Amino acid sequence: MRKKIVAGNWKMNENLQEGIILAKEINTVLEADKPNCGVVICTPFIHLASVAQVLNKSLVSLGAENCADKEKGAYTGEISAAMVKSTGAEYVILGHSERRQYYNETPEILKEKVRLALDNGLKVIFCCGETLEEREAEKQNAIVKAELENSVFNLSSTDWENIILAYEPIWAIGTGKTATSDQAEEMLAYIRSIVAEKYGREAADDTTILYGGSCNPGNAAELFSKPDIDGGLIGGASLKTSDFKAIIDAWKK
Ligand code: 13P
Repeated sequence: MRKKIVAGNWKMNENLQEGIILAKEINTVLEADKPNCGVVICTPFIHLASVAQVLNKSLVSLGAENCADKEKGAYTGEISAAMVKSTGAEYVILGHSERRQYYNETPEILKEKVRLALDNGLKVIFCCGETLEEREAEKQNAIVKAELENSVFNLSSTDWENIILAYEPIWAIGTGKTATSDQAEEMLAYIRSIVAEKYGREAADDTTILYGGSCNPGNAAELFSKPDIDGGLIGGASLKTSDFKAIIDAWKK
């Protein structure tokens, strides 16, 4: 049975001290009231090692928001998958539209990053999603399929077990404009169908697929009630403990 997950993506928010406070708060509320889904917080690189020290790993897992496309060496300023892993992180977000858009991460670069992340024992939360223009032209399925085909459908079935997918329509990220639960379900069911074509029905049924994009305490329960939506990748609302907790609690409804 596939895992339900609520993952926070802090993006470029919180300095180190603020981040440790936030992580402690999240840990405390989840210790007091246990989640019935997997919870992951993905933080900036500089937070990882310190945040790893304050999390109860049986309740909250840690992830990075990126890693390098090179193994090691003379790449000033880069952080490798092995370095991420050595902090205690278990997950890494790759393929986020902000990385594709602002840092020119191509499908080929992402393929390398995914490979290195998996080789270093990280689980990958791989993002895909279309722009508003592409949706209006009804190209969303083709776009998402190409993103998966070009960066992760090359993986072996064994590697696939460490892939979590996140559908994040770009027009819904940070805009307050959520995909309706029907729109999200339609896309996640489509994604599951192409995973089934590639890896078989059983693997597709075991693949965790998240929705991301303006997910909040007010819409999470409705989104999570859909059969193919296995949880959320949460941006803004993951920076406020009460909102993040309320989204996690949407799995209790
Ligand atoms: P928001 O929840 O702020 O829309 O961000 C979604 C996202 O990009 C998570 O990766």
